[in-house]
Amino acid sequence: MADIAVDSNLTPAQMPQVRVAVLGAGKMGGILLQAFLKQNLFAPDQIHATVGHAERAIALSSQWGVNVGTDNVEAAKNADLILLGVKPFQVPDLVEQIRPALTTKKTIVSFAASVKTRAIEDAAGLEIAVIRAMPNTPSALGAGAAGLCKGRFVKPEQMDLAQRLFETVGRTVIVDEKHMYAVTGLSASGPAYIYIVIEALAEAGVKVGLPRDTATQPAAQTVFRAGKMVLETGYHPALLKDAVTTPAGCTIDGILELEEGGLRVTLIKAVMRATQRAKELAAG
Ligand SMILES: NC(=O)c1ccc[n+]([C@@H]2O[C@H](COP(=O)([O-])OP(=O)(O)OC[C@H]3O[C@@H](n4cnc5c(N)ncnc54)[C@H](OP(=O)(O)O)[C@@H]3O)[C@@H](O)[C@H]2O)c1
Repeated sequence: MADIAVDSNLTPAQMPQVRVAVLGAGKMGGILLQAFLKQNLFAPDQIHATVGHAERAIALSSQWGVNVGTDNVEAAKNADLILLGVKPFQVPDLVEQIRPALTTKKTIVSFAASVKTRAIEDAAGLEIAVIRAMPNTPSALGAGAAGLCKGRFVKPEQMDLAQRLFETVGRTVIVDEKHMYAVTGLSASGPAYIYIVIEALAEAGVKVGLPRDTATQPAAQTVFRAGKMVLETGYHPALLKDAVTTPAGCTIDGILELEEGGLRVTLIKAVMRATQRAKELAAG
């Protein structure tokens, strides 16, 4: 995935008082970290990131201009806000490892799929604020959709801070923790469904005579603009669909095919299955 260019910025950071640790600055952690810098939420010297491999730490350190190492305890000790970006199976061990650095004044934000706030609280062994987030890959372009939920010890200002973090890479919704599986099945997995829709539309363009190179762009642009219309007008998608559907025109014929092919039910089932799978993964 392409890195986001980080502009050098001489204006003061928006949150100069918060020191941040990103433990596991991989794909998603790296996307967030670079967005924080790009939007000047934090200055580079407020951020301490870690990865698993020392040589990667050196490379990322010079690429991002922030302190990147492999010592999680040191990074967590100096941080007010601790982001967990390792793989889900690594989270409990990582939290136990950084226990000596944790206090009830700190905030943990985990974006590991299917890891419950309760599991993190238990691994931490104290009444610490734990916020769980489920972002998605379009976050790399600032077009992400993240669901957030809070653990038992989170104060409103800590939730506001977490929301601000994820708003640097897109839109957020706050949900009860029981709905995090649904967020996973819908918006975290969702880009994959939509890429298939775009691919299929482009394939259809080829079928009706467009050159392949010409077909993909209008397909992707149509999906992008249709999503933008829903977000920016606030209209129900059905109303927007009706506006495209002229009586006895072309679109209604296309819609009849979609309904007969079961697109609507198939998408609903895809989200249901992915949600179910997220639950299974949480159960271990
Ligand atoms: N990618 C997505 O679309 C997405 C979406 C939502 C949520 N998530 C969640 O984000 C988390 C990370 O996923 P990812 O796709 O970003 O994976 P990733 O690129 O593999 O990132 C994991 C990072 O953890 C580092 N790491 C491994 N062991 C470590 C340790 N002991 N201490 C510190 N860092 C360590 C790795 O370092 P090395 O590179 O040196 O091995 C790597 O940088 C997962 O829990 C996933 O569920 C991802």
